[in-house]
Amino acid sequence: MINIAVFASGTGSNFEAICKHIESGYLKAKIKLVVSDCMYAPVIEKAKQRNIEVFSFHSKDYQTKSEYEKKIKEKCIALEIDYIVLAGYMRMIGEELLTAYPRKIINIHPSLLPSFKGKGAIEQALDYGVKVTGVTIHFIDQNMDEGEIIAQYPLNIEHKSKDEVIQAIHAIEHEFYSKTLKKIWEDGYEKSTN
Ligand code: GRF
Repeated sequence: MINIAVFASGTGSNFEAICKHIESGYLKAKIKLVVSDCMYAPVIEKAKQRNIEVFSFHSKDYQTKSEYEKKIKEKCIALEIDYIVLAGYMRMIGEELLTAYPRKIINIHPSLLPSFKGKGAIEQALDYGVKVTGVTIHFIDQNMDEGEIIAQYPLNIEHKSKDEVIQAIHAIEHEFYSKTLKKIWEDGYEKSTN
């Protein structure tokens, strides 16, 4: 069984989708910890309803990133976390966690990286006028939305409204994140193709 920690700052729809895939038996993993940098993020309530341990923090209560990441690291080690799954975590991961979990921290981003990094990726793609955008799942490194790409899922957005694109991207994320994680954990990363 793979033990995971999910890091999230907001709604937690990806967290919920992963939970559902675990509950149905599709994904053989256990979420042992949810980490959030936003004390009032809806994801926290969703985790508590499922009796999952939550560590939420306010970055301003710490002098450095390394200070709060040390705390997170201690928790992850105590809970024997194998993988950290980022699901809308709005903070860069620092040295402390990157060193403790090399190639074990995975992120999902709503664009075809390396295009449209950072916040508002869907809007950035729409504003640019691309015909195709999509979703990327990747190992993280020290740079924002960079690191080895594991899988990508394209979406043709011609003739789609903004709302339709947002909905379609989220639907892909909710299915494709678990599908990719399953391939990584069950078949090994090398076989993890779309
Ligand atoms: C998702 O679009 C994800 O790709 C991005 O942040 C968003 C999180 O949404 N990294 P949610 O909180 O899972 O609903």
